[in-house]
Amino acid sequence: MERKIRIREFRQEDLNRVIEIGKGFPPTSIEGGNRFTVKKVALWVDQVVGFLSGDIVFSEASINLLAVCPSFRRKGIAGALIDSFVSLSREKGAERVVLEVSSKNIPAVNLYRKKGFKEAYLRKKYYRDGSDAIVMVLPV
Ligand SMILES: CC(C)(COP(=O)(O)OP(=O)(O)OC[C@H]1O[C@@H](n2cnc3c(N)ncnc32)[C@H](O)[C@@H]1OP(=O)(O)O)[C@@H](O)C(=O)NCCC(=O)NCCS
Repeated sequence: MERKIRIREFRQEDLNRVIEIGKGFPPTSIEGGNRFTVKKVALWVDQVVGFLSGDIVFSEASINLLAVCPSFRRKGIAGALIDSFVSLSREKGAERVVLEVSSKNIPAVNLYRKKGFKEAYLRKKYYRDGSDAIVMVLPV
């Protein structure tokens, strides 16, 4: 299965597909960024099926957006995007990767745990639905 997944840099031509995949992400958050921002897409054979956006700011990297097309989930695609971002963070000299995830988002919490992230602390009632944000950290 791994062989079918390829990770490459996001390109402008991927935008509409990524908006579709990242339903709920404001398009400006997909398009935005600064000189620290890294955006990657995952391809299944030759179809864009996943997206990750993060920032690598000196010693600290953060994952800000991550989504996989519903019909391509549980194939290791998010895992491959995270691996690629973590490797790049390490190469650029980051010491840790941080992210925040809703305590209600069991698939994502499990995914990050599987990738070695540890729960650092909670931001109580951080989301509009009243759920807590879990801040998770991976030393790299
Ligand atoms: C969370 C998300 C990115 C996972 O993508 P994915 O490509 O399916 O993830 P992977 O196939 O790499 O999963 C790796 C591991 O994560 C965990 N996981 C993923 N989906 C899960 C689910 N629905 N239930 C429980 N655990 C799950 C499992 O441990 C899985 O390993 P396994 O398949 O060997 O059991 C995807 O469900 C998604 O896009 N969700 C909506 C957007 C979102 O919540 N983004 C994260 C915001 S922080």
